[in-house]
Amino acid sequence: MATLQELRNELKKLNAEYAKIKDLPADQRADFGKEINHKKQQLNAEIAAAEAAAEQEDITPLDISAPCDINGQLPQFLTADNGSKHPLMTELDRVIAIYQSMGFDIIESVQLDDEYHMFDSLNFAKGHPARDGYDTFRTEEGYIPPAHTSTMQNRVLRANAYKLAEGKAIAVAVPGRVYRNEDVDATHEHTFYQCEGVYVSETCTLGNMLGILREFFEKYYGQKLNIKTQPGYFPFTEPSLEFLIEKPASLGGKGDGWLEMLGCGMIHPNVLQAAGIDPTRYQGFAWGGGIDRLVMLRYGLTDVRNFESAKLDFLKEFAC
Ligand code: DAH
Repeated sequence: MATLQELRNELKKLNAEYAKIKDLPADQRADFGKEINHKKQQLNAEIAAAEAAAEQEDITPLDISAPCDINGQLPQFLTADNGSKHPLMTELDRVIAIYQSMGFDIIESVQLDDEYHMFDSLNFAKGHPARDGYDTFRTEEGYIPPAHTSTMQNRVLRANAYKLAEGKAIAVAVPGRVYRNEDVDATHEHTFYQCEGVYVSETCTLGNMLGILREFFEKYYGQKLNIKTQPGYFPFTEPSLEFLIEKPASLGGKGDGWLEMLGCGMIHPNVLQAAGIDPTRYQGFAWGGGIDRLVMLRYGLTDVRNFESAKLDFLKEFAC
């Protein structure tokens, strides 16, 4: 059988044949071209098969039954001073501290959830195409590594409903790790962080929400910001909005760029009802947005993949 290298050489030779077409009499060109195409297809299939086989060969299984050599050389571990807190965790702490200073309780989002919390309780109708927009992974058992921290809304509302009866508001922020089955590039990761906010009381308004969001972003970036909203669509809010900030000059803005920071809106009555809260008496607002994006703007980072890369050079830049 030909080796992978031989097959590749053959393909090179075959590709060179195409140049001959122009020298042939016109009535022979089509047949000649077809023949090369046919050979090329066959060759490509053989190459793909050989590549797949070569990949298998490269994997040497670890022999876990091999005796342990106690006199063998120790593996070279990194020393402790190479370790540092991951930049996303440092920034997440900052985010949490800001929400706490504004009176929010904090609860971490779960990392494995179910259809009910991820979709049903959030007013996604069964079979609604909006479910597809979340590119969810699923385990073989049908569980979902959540694609957004909104997966916690029903739990947060249920667990805190008693506060409403006491005349208090529900105010909770939910940071967490989320997962989406997306193609990874400089601005998309399959694994990232979000933070959700949930607020419910008898009298709160969309205006209150915009005030809270402005304060959060101004505290996080340490400066006054221009904000705006534009219409959005989420099954769990009505109305639904996207919240944007104008990229400030100190962070590379030239007065030209609005950045979408999160989705938000008034909590849909069906979502309150699903958590046992009377939507004719109480109303609420909620928001959720990516932490990675927040941090990238703060530090002028351009490639989100660095966060999950375990690249020490990158991580060391943030070591503290
Ligand atoms: N969960 C949404 C997402 O990941 C963002 C979002 C929108 C969260 C509106 C909310 C909300 O709480 O009210 O795209």
